[in-house]
Amino acid sequence: MTWRAFVQQQLGSAGIETAPLDARLILQSVTGLDRTAMMVNPDRALTSDEIKTLEAILARRLAHEPMAYILGQQEFWSLSFAVGPGGLIPRPDTEALVELALGLKSDAQRVLDLGTGPGTVLCALLHEQPKAHGVGVDLSPVAVDYARKNVSALGLEDRALVLEGRWLDPVTGQFDLIVSNPPYIPAPDVADLMPDVRDHEPHLALVGGEGGLDVYHEFARTLHHALAPGGVVCLEIGAGQDADIKDIFQGAGWKFLRQHQDLAGHIRALGFSKI
Ligand SMILES: C[S@@+](CC[C@H](N)C(=O)[O-])C[C@H]1O[C@@H](n2cnc3c(N)ncnc32)[C@H](O)[C@@H]1O
Repeated sequence: MTWRAFVQQQLGSAGIETAPLDARLILQSVTGLDRTAMMVNPDRALTSDEIKTLEAILARRLAHEPMAYILGQQEFWSLSFAVGPGGLIPRPDTEALVELALGLKSDAQRVLDLGTGPGTVLCALLHEQPKAHGVGVDLSPVAVDYARKNVSALGLEDRALVLEGRWLDPVTGQFDLIVSNPPYIPAPDVADLMPDVRDHEPHLALVGGEGGLDVYHEFARTLHHALAPGGVVCLEIGAGQDADIKDIFQGAGWKFLRQHQDLAGHIRALGFSKI
């Protein structure tokens, strides 16, 4: 049996659905071989150091630690982001938020990303908008560290500032585009999340109060202070939350502009402006 088959079997027996992919990525990480080299050398023996590394990684994955934490990076918007324990792992769904923001405000000069995590949305937007400057805010010092690392690794340090604090607290001035992927999972639903997410990713990044909508209520009351005339707010939302969040914003005097779906067809991002 090859090492890859062995790892796949161990992960499969533990009920990890992505065992074939994880096994390949783990062996690539341990050996430093790319995908093609792995295919050409399926029987490559491991050195004793590589076996020790493999054992350590396998134990982490068998404990359902997410692959992105083990590998230390996750791709988003075709950019590579450093991620690790204590920080949220970027999701492909969030690309819908970036697409909506670019569609509604492609000429934004000043961008604010609230709850920036590893800097995902801020960096993707600044990458697409070379004339824009931006600020990312996060309450988690771990997230702020990762966001600063990613801003610098992506060569955006002249245009992006990352601040630690609660939503608008550390921010001054006004922005043409405010984006956020806030925590929106209802607290009672946490128990049903996959163990990879529930037991490893920070609940600060996931849980939006009992009904999941706490942050949207707060944003609907507060964001107009930070929005420049003609500015736009774009928010990621949970599947099925669109009607409630439109009501919350329209009830607070905002104008609904546009929505955008994720790849699964869920309405995943909403855009608003001041009336
Ligand atoms: C769902 S994650 C989004 C991360 C990143 N923007 C993304 O889309 O991949 C929400 C983020 O909001 C941050 N957060 C939660 N409560 C916050 C608060 N009161 N003020 C600032 N950031 C907060 C979390 O630490 C987390 O990084």
